[in-house]
Amino acid sequence: MRILVTGGAGFIGSALVRRLIRHSDHEVLVFDKLTYAGVLSSLDPVSSSDRYRFIQADICDADAVARAFRDFAPEVVAHLAAESHVDRSIDGPGAFVQTNVVGTFVMLSQALAYWRGLDEAARSAFRFHHISTDEVFGSLGEDGFFTETTPYDPRSPYSASKAGSDHLVRAWGHTYGLPVLVTNCSNNYGPFHFPEKLIPLIIIRALNGEPLPVYGDGSNVRDWLFVDDHARALQAVFETGKPGETYNVGGNAERKNIEVVTAICSILDRLRPKAEGRYADQITYVTDRPGHDHRYAIDAAKIRADLGWTPSVTFEQGIEQTVAWYLENQSWWRDILDARYSTQRLGVAHG
Ligand code: NAD
Ligand code: DAU
Repeated sequence: MRILVTGGAGFIGSALVRRLIRHSDHEVLVFDKLTYAGVLSSLDPVSSSDRYRFIQADICDADAVARAFRDFAPEVVAHLAAESHVDRSIDGPGAFVQTNVVGTFVMLSQALAYWRGLDEAARSAFRFHHISTDEVFGSLGEDGFFTETTPYDPRSPYSASKAGSDHLVRAWGHTYGLPVLVTNCSNNYGPFHFPEKLIPLIIIRALNGEPLPVYGDGSNVRDWLFVDDHARALQAVFETGKPGETYNVGGNAERKNIEVVTAICSILDRLRPKAEGRYADQITYVTDRPGHDHRYAIDAAKIRADLGWTPSVTFEQGIEQTVAWYLENQSWWRDILDARYSTQRLGVAHG
C-alpha cells in the first residue's frame, strides 16, 4: 500500500516509518513541516529505501496537501502531524489550535476531495487514520481506566486542540462517509524522543550533571508505552481496524513520575556510574505544571480483543533499552541541544 504519514519526522511518526520500511512492503511518503520537533536524522536508518519519500510542507497549506494526494495517491493516511508538548501549549496555545485543529481540518477536506474522485473499490479500501492521545479524556483519580466510551474532558490547550481534531475526524466519517479510524494512546517513550519530554530530559540532564526537575510532588501517574509497540499498533489499526471505530492503545505500565525518574537514575548508576554520589542526588522538586492532570491509564481491551495487539516489552525492558540508546546516540541529542532546545523549563503560566 501507499501510506502518507504526516508528522513522519517526529518521535512516533519516525518510529512508524522505520517500522513500515523495515517490516512491510508498503511505500511511504512523509509529509512534515520540520518544526522544532521534526528531526530528519531520525529517518536516516531508512531514508535510502526506494519505498521512502519526503516532502517538507505544512498540513495547513491546502495546495501542498492536495498536491501530495494527487501525486502520491495514498491508500492510507496516517495523520500524526501535531504540536505535541503540553508545556509549550501553556506558553503558546495559538500554534496548537492552528496545526492540530485547522491543520486536521485541511487534511480532512483534501482527503475527502481526493476520496470522492476514487473508484468504488479504492474508496472502500481507503483509510484516514487519526493518531490521538489519552489526554482528551481528562484526568483520573486513584482508580479506573479510560475506555473508548469515556466522555471527553480535555484540560490543557494541547489536549483541547487534540479533542477538537478528534471530533472533526469523527464528523467527517459520520457526515461524509470518509473511512476514518481514531486511536487514543498513552505516553510513549523510547529512542529518538525529543528532549523536552520527561524521559529524555531526565536522561540528558542526569548525564550533564544538572538538576532533575520533578513537577509538584512527583505523584502524578502516566501509563507508559514503548514507541515501537505503538507503531505496531498503528499498523494493525490501519491494516485491519474497522472504519468508524476508535481504539485505545496503552502500555499497562502505570508509574508515578518520581518512580520513572528514580528508575532512570538507577540504570545510569549501573551503566555510567558517577565519580562521586548517585544520579538520584540530582533530583529537585520544582513548581508544578499549571493544570497538571493527576493520572492517565488506558484500558486496551478492545484493541487486544479485536486486533490481537498487546505491548511486547515491559516498562523495565523498555526503559533500559531507552537509557542505553541515549548513551549510545549522544550526537543525535547533542545536535538538538546545540541548535534547538537545551532542556530549560517550559510551561510556567504567567499572570
Ligand atoms: P512530535 O512533536 O515528536 O512530532 C510532531 C511532528 O509533526 C514533527 O515532525 C513536526 O515537524 C510535525 N509537524 C508539526 N506541525 C506540523 C505542520 N503544521 N505540518 C506538518 N508537519 C508538522 O510528536 P509525537 O510525540 O511524535 O506525536 C505524534 C502524534 O501522536 C501527535 O499527533 C500526538 O498528539 C500523538 N500522541 C503522542 C503521544 C506521545 O506520548 N508522544 C501519545 C499519544 C498520542
Ligand atoms: O498521554 C499522552 C501524552 O503524553 C501525549 O499526548 C503528549 O504528546 C506527550 O507529550 C505526553 O504528555 P505528558 O504531559 O504526559 O508528557 P511529558 O513528558 O511532558 O510529562 C510527563 C509527566 O512528567 C507529566 O506528569 C509532567 C511531568 N514532568 C515533565 C517534565 C518535562 C516533570 O515532572 N518534569 C519535567 O521536566
